[in-house]
Amino acid sequence: MLQNSRGEAWDLLCEWTQSDSLRRHMLAVEAAMRAYAPRFDGDADLWGLTGLLHDLDYERYPNLEDGHPRYALRELETRGYPPELVRAVASHAPYLGVPRESPMEQALFAVDELSGFILACAYVRPQGLVGMTPKSVKKKMKTAAFAAAVSRDDLTQGAAELGVDFDEHLTIVISALAERRDELLPARPEPSADPAAEPQPSADPAAEPQPGAAPAAEPQPASSDGI
Ligand SMILES: [Fe+2]
Repeated sequence: MLQNSRGEAWDLLCEWTQSDSLRRHMLAVEAAMRAYAPRFDGDADLWGLTGLLHDLDYERYPNLEDGHPRYALRELETRGYPPELVRAVASHAPYLGVPRESPMEQALFAVDELSGFILACAYVRPQGLVGMTPKSVKKKMKTAAFAAAVSRDDLTQGAAELGVDFDEHLTIVISALAERRDELLPARPEPSADPAAEPQPSADPAAEPQPGAAPAAEPQPASSDGI
């Protein structure tokens, strides 16, 4: 039984993270982790909190040399979060040298960058996450300029480590994110009678910062550095 509530974790996240896109990224990873927990007989609350908090300190301490996720690890330990959660957060930063061993650790790595990539895909689709297919995500993966900071190798390696077929992996994560689409995608402007009267959703993924996927608009927790 988890001592730390989801509400407490959310308050902590909001205290440390002001960026809406980074908050959405962590919510997306939470959703994907909860979706995966039953497949590995995991505790959905524990897996969800691990996803929700994995980039807790990224906004405050983005420097990988001596920052993220070291401050988060200390804070989470101090607050009594379970050692499995703390270790999983450490293991998603390969440069800390904590190997990904448990299914929860492997799932976190597998869904982290992919969640950002799928949100980036959704952002340039008129229907967003609704009706998105693995095929369409794989097509975007072949476009090098799209969400260029996301390592395609990490996406496929994550699924392989987890032992899940890549198409199935895409289906699971798309579906998990689609269920919470209202939280995960920023509101788009209402269609206007006069197309020039309001800004329209951009077709350029680089124009809007996307957590974990867009190239350079703001510090990105998921990147080719394998954070
Ligand atoms: Fe992340």
